[in-house]
Amino acid sequence: MSIERPAHRNADWWRDAVIYQIYPKSWNDSNGDGFGDANGVRARLRYLADLGVDAVWFSPFYKSPDHDGGYDVADYRDIDPRFGTLAEVEALIEEAHGFGLKVLVDLVPNHTSSEHRFFQAALATAPGSPEWARYHVAQGRGANQELPPNNWRCVFTGDAWSPILDADGVATGYWYLHLFDSTQPDVNWENPDIVEEFDTTVRFWLDRGVDGFRVDVAHGLAKVPGLPDSQGEQRLLDADGQLIDIVPEPMWDQPAVHDVYRHWRAITDAYQPTRIFVGEIWVGTPARLANYLRPDEMHTGFNFPFLRANFRASELRAVIDASLANDRVVGASTTWVVENHDVPRVVNRYALNDRGLNDAPEATGSGLEARIVRTPLSEQQERLGRDRARAMMLTMLALPGSAYIYQGQELALEEVINIPASERQDPAWFRSGGVDGLRDGCRVPLPWTRAGETFGFSTDSAWLTQPRHWRELSIEAQTDDPASMLELTRKALRLRRSEPALGEGEMVWRDDLTLGSSVLAFERPSRFGRPGILVVCNTGAEDAAIPRAGLMLASSRVPLERTASNALVIPPDTAVWLEV
Ligand code: GLC
Ligand code: CA
Repeated sequence: MSIERPAHRNADWWRDAVIYQIYPKSWNDSNGDGFGDANGVRARLRYLADLGVDAVWFSPFYKSPDHDGGYDVADYRDIDPRFGTLAEVEALIEEAHGFGLKVLVDLVPNHTSSEHRFFQAALATAPGSPEWARYHVAQGRGANQELPPNNWRCVFTGDAWSPILDADGVATGYWYLHLFDSTQPDVNWENPDIVEEFDTTVRFWLDRGVDGFRVDVAHGLAKVPGLPDSQGEQRLLDADGQLIDIVPEPMWDQPAVHDVYRHWRAITDAYQPTRIFVGEIWVGTPARLANYLRPDEMHTGFNFPFLRANFRASELRAVIDASLANDRVVGASTTWVVENHDVPRVVNRYALNDRGLNDAPEATGSGLEARIVRTPLSEQQERLGRDRARAMMLTMLALPGSAYIYQGQELALEEVINIPASERQDPAWFRSGGVDGLRDGCRVPLPWTRAGETFGFSTDSAWLTQPRHWRELSIEAQTDDPASMLELTRKALRLRRSEPALGEGEMVWRDDLTLGSSVLAFERPSRFGRPGILVVCNTGAEDAAIPRAGLMLASSRVPLERTASNALVIPPDTAVWLEV
């Protein structure tokens, strides 16, 4: 049963949409090869409609040698055969629309795959050719140009440069830039062929009915001319895992990136109904992020400062305030996101807050995630992590703006630790000799049913082995269990659709309740004659008591108690929605 969006939410749907991220390889496999595919998604679209999300974002499903989970695109306008065919994806888009779901696709404009026709054409020529001018090429340093042209580092560890060899395999003295894997050469956005390739791609997908794009590495496209050495650490986080408002690095957050988004916005604005952009923008602060969300640029950007925050009221409150304030200046709506395919699951991250893991991350050099989760949780930690994941789900879905749910977050799946080396696929793991970047642990295929070797993900196999206890976390096991994360999420999404106080709008901190600094308490004021909603999230170690409260929804698995004076007791690691 899907619920219609109320009319007052239809116009600028993206301003408070809940968007579900599908990692295509891991969602549902229809043909038993162990990889999720288009027909697998089509077969289970009803699940998303019933969950109550508004839109789906697909991580890349384009033709790709898959050296970086499809973020190495060989053809932006064709589908990877493992995912299916273009006709199947067209049908998927149409069927999703039939279920009332908007569809966002991934656009990867910072780099192509080394198998893209542009790079293949370049390889057939000598450096200095027009073909190589589509990429970033520079002469090496050292007497024989045997050293990389500058000191830039690859996000997945190692140098950001690889040597260009001639037809006989002899070094030419020239190097090409890759901020990610060596199979992901960075393209040169000053080159008109690149502009045209992406104009064509954007139009291609808009003409197929997609409702918008998630823009990969949106802060990375423009590089300082001459590619000077980096003067800084090139890291977005300091040693404590806190965001740094870095001096702009020559490869990140350069003013010229904004020209690209203004140009694209002019293209999408010509389409009806509204098509949107959400940027993957890793910059130091909410203020820097807001620069990308000016009215003629992207509609929204992922709120990574929020994703980075620990499960602590003071930290969360500071990020919430800064995000809303900065976005207000440019008229943008804020997004709330805590999980995606690049970061460890919140069950683990939040469970380990107390152990100080997030306070003393291992330095990894990876800009993607410095807080690596390496050890399995104890049973007690896992319970704590799940309680907090549930509390965060309610908190996040009650904040003004739009929200993202990464597949499996609605099941409170934990990070899978100790994946055997033979199954690993994350390039960061290989480039670092098996230490850095545990991004495979959040990409393990979804468990659908209790039974079966792959819990209904596939008839035969799964590209990453699922833990055996996922049987009890499967969609089948959680469906209709009122204490499950899945039913909590469904209820929250249902209320969010029907209660005008939620979604876009105002929020007011309720400091007058004097619940202390480890409790978040905010009100979403009454609208359209419907009651306001008070949201309380207790991140502290003590109970909090709320007088005379009408409970709408609680994240706890057991009923909440009341005091003798009828105050509602909110235990630690619990969030509630209350009618006011
Ligand atoms: C983004 C993607 C990540 C990918 C990288 C390079 O950060 O989310 O998965 O590895 O870009 O494309
Ligand atoms: Ca398949």
